[in-house]
Amino acid sequence: MGRITEEYIKKHPKSAANAKKAVELFPDGVTHDNRRFNPFPLAMERGLGPKKWDIDGNEYTDFRTGHGAMILGHSHPAIVKAVAEQVAKGTHLSSSTELEVKWGSMVKQLVPSAEKMRFTSSGTEAVMMAFRMARTHSGKTKIIKFQDAFHGWADGPYVGTDLDNPNNGIPKQTRETMVILPYDITAVERTLDNDKDIAAVIFQGNKVINPSFIQQLRAITKQRGVLFIIDEVVSGFRWSRGGCQELYGAIPDLSTMAKILAGGLPGGCVAGRADVVDTVTKGKIAHPGTFNANPLSAAAGATALAIVAKEPIGETADRLAARFRKGLNDVMSKMEVPGCAYGVSSIVLTRFGADHDCDHQYCPSGGKAKGWSPEQKNLLVQALANRDIYCWSDSFILSATHTNDLVDNTLEKVEDAIRAMRAEGAI
Ligand SMILES: Cc1ncc(COP(=O)(O)O)c(C=O)c1O
Repeated sequence: MGRITEEYIKKHPKSAANAKKAVELFPDGVTHDNRRFNPFPLAMERGLGPKKWDIDGNEYTDFRTGHGAMILGHSHPAIVKAVAEQVAKGTHLSSSTELEVKWGSMVKQLVPSAEKMRFTSSGTEAVMMAFRMARTHSGKTKIIKFQDAFHGWADGPYVGTDLDNPNNGIPKQTRETMVILPYDITAVERTLDNDKDIAAVIFQGNKVINPSFIQQLRAITKQRGVLFIIDEVVSGFRWSRGGCQELYGAIPDLSTMAKILAGGLPGGCVAGRADVVDTVTKGKIAHPGTFNANPLSAAAGATALAIVAKEPIGETADRLAARFRKGLNDVMSKMEVPGCAYGVSSIVLTRFGADHDCDHQYCPSGGKAKGWSPEQKNLLVQALANRDIYCWSDSFILSATHTNDLVDNTLEKVEDAIRAMRAEGAI
C-alpha cells in the first residue's frame, strides 16, 4: 500500500468503521453507484456553503455539491428557513397547495419551453413521464437517445448508457423501443427518415458539445414533426436561468428537470408544450406519486428558484468554474501531466493523463485519447481528500458560494496531490 492510501486510512477511522457496517447492508456498501470508492467512501455529517465535514471531524471544500443540486451551497439560510417553517406545518397534506402553484409559476417564469408541467419525485421519474407523454401524443413507440447519455436509471431511458453494465434486468422488448445513436446529425436525420415509429429524440442538456448540434436537432425534429426533449436535470437553472435551451436558443417540446429545481430536496418536473403535457389529463396517462410536489420540496424549490431568478447565482458559479478550469490546465502543463480541464458553465470536466488536442471547452478529440486508469483516478481522489478537497476525479461541480480563494487553494492542492502521486510512482 502506498503512502497516499495509508494517510487516507489513518485520517478517516470513523468513515472506515461506518463503511464496514454499510457493506453488510448495501451492495458495495453504498446507496448510489457514484459513491463507490476504494478503500472505503467517506461518511459526511454536515455541509455549509461550499464546505462539508465528515464524521471524523475533517473539513472539506466540496466539489460534489449534492450531485449538482446545491448551486446555492449547503444549507442556504433562506432554504433552511422555508423548509423549517414547512416541517412545522406538515410534510404531506394529501392535497393541492399554494406552494406547488408558487413552485410551478417559478418554473414557467424561468424555463422557455414550460407552458404546463407535472412534478415528480426525481429526474428519473420526470424522464419516464416525458417518454410516456411523447408516446401518447405522437401515437408512436421509439425514442432516440445518444450513446452513453444518462437520463436516469428507469428501464427505457437507461438503455445504451453504460457499456460496462449492458442493460442487465431490462427486458429485450424495452430495449427495442430505444434507438441509440452517435452524436452525428446525419445519423439522426437518416433514422428519422427511415423509421416512422419515432416518438421523440432526447438530448442530455449538460452534454458538452458544440451548440450547433443541439440547434440542428431542434430544427430537424421540427421539420419532421417529431418531439424533441431536452433533459435539463443537470443543465436546468445552471447553464442559464432557463437552462441549456435558453443558452443555446433551442426550445424543446418537453424538458425534464430535477436537482437545482427542488433546492436540494428530492423533486423532478416534466414541463413543455401544453398540448403534450395535457396528455396527463383524466382518461389518458395515469400520474399518481405520493410525494409529487410534496410541501417540503415545493417550499425549498420555490425559494431556490426565486433566488436563482433574482441573484447572479449562475453567473458567479460560471466565473469561478472558468477560473478553476484555466487553473487546472495550467497545473497540468506545469506538472507535465497530459490532459485537460474543459466544459461549459459551472461544471469542470477533466481528462487526466489523456494526450490529445483540446480547446478547453468542448474538447472535440478528447474522448478518443486514453487517460489515467480507474486506479490512478481513485488515488487522485484519495490524495485530494487527504488535502481536504472532496470531489470526483472527472468532474468538479462549483456552487455560487465557492470563492476565488477556495478555487486557488484547491489548485495548489491538486498540484501537491499530483506531486504525491508521482513520488510514489503511481503516475
Ligand atoms: C442528465 C440526467 N438526467 C436524469 C438524471 C436522473 O435524475 P435523478 O437522479 O433525480 O433520478 C440525472 C441524474 O444525475 C442526470 O444527470
